[in-house]
Amino acid sequence: MPIIEVDSLVKEFHRPKRFEGPLGGVRTLLTRDYETTRAVDGVSFAIDEGELIGYLGANGAGKSTTIKMLSGILVPTSGTVRVDGIVPWEQREQNALRIGVVFGQRTQLWWDLPLGDSLKLIGKLYRLDSVRYTRNFNRLVALLGLDEFLDRPVRQLSLGQRMRGDLAAAMLYEPRILYLDEPTVGLDVVAKERTRQFVEEINRDAGTTIMLTTHDLADVERLCKRIIFISKGTVLFDGSVTELKRRYAPYRQLEVTLDPGDGVGDAIVDLDIDGAEVIARDEGRLAIRFDPAVVAVPDLISAVIARHPVTDISIVEPDLEGVVRQIVERGGMP
Ligand SMILES: Nc1ncnc2c1ncn2[C@@H]1O[C@H](COP(=O)(O)OP(=O)(O)O)[C@@H](O)[C@H]1O
Ligand SMILES: [Mg+2]
Repeated sequence: MPIIEVDSLVKEFHRPKRFEGPLGGVRTLLTRDYETTRAVDGVSFAIDEGELIGYLGANGAGKSTTIKMLSGILVPTSGTVRVDGIVPWEQREQNALRIGVVFGQRTQLWWDLPLGDSLKLIGKLYRLDSVRYTRNFNRLVALLGLDEFLDRPVRQLSLGQRMRGDLAAAMLYEPRILYLDEPTVGLDVVAKERTRQFVEEINRDAGTTIMLTTHDLADVERLCKRIIFISKGTVLFDGSVTELKRRYAPYRQLEVTLDPGDGVGDAIVDLDIDGAEVIARDEGRLAIRFDPAVVAVPDLISAVIARHPVTDISIVEPDLEGVVRQIVERGGMP
């Protein structure tokens, strides 16, 4: 039995239609016309306990709206959601015990309270006994390095410190499921890495099921075996990162260092080989993008060598960033 089951989930938002021009504001106020946005348009998936899922998509794809329905903050227009056997927006209290939620854009903590007091309050709200509270508190303080700023009001924390505080707050009562909505947004490299490490550890050690939305494909490449890719509110791909690369981004890149001996400047302007294309060249280096299904690697290499002496040659696998760029360049997945 999956721990999260989502079937044909839809969320529409209605807004009064806006009018431009003279008296546009008045017309906007008086009109009964509404504009409908289908933020989530028939999404289905199932997630097993202990999985760490990357929920990806461009800005406005419907990621946050999905997370809000899964966590019980929003009620869907239609469709069903079951999380650990319950309907999140109907059984709010039971739901709250099972899940932790972190939104990168805003904190769940009390702005004016010292971080330590915020955590204490959450312990009370979730009725943790003192043994369990102390054990979890100490573990999270150590894991996230909260010591140095526990007594500072949340408002005075840096974004990275605040994020660590939010992660501690979400995990204090040991939820079985953790939703992270853009947890690394705006963080510097060190803070990003720290967040990733924490996510990895609680997934591995506590077995927490994690759903992570992010723009940062490095997060996904580093953390997630499986991704769900959405666009305009529908699922385009659900599977492993490897499978995504294989199916949707067949291209590989051949990187060639030319022998500087003679006439490098004019070397290999056009390869004239089906399935291969020079995509970058500078200072005696060439990058050739090719489709291994169209041109065999040995043929490509001998064609290059026949045109110009080379000193080095290597094949680069696309990273996730490159895959997504290829998909976007082609205007979506086939
Ligand atoms: N409260 C709201 N009212 C109206 N439209 C909304 C609301 N929340 C989100 N939307 C719209 O729904 C779409 C999906 O938004 P969102 O789920 O936030 O996307 P993502 O998190 O993938 O960037 C966007 O077009 C957004 O403008
Ligand atoms: Mg969002």
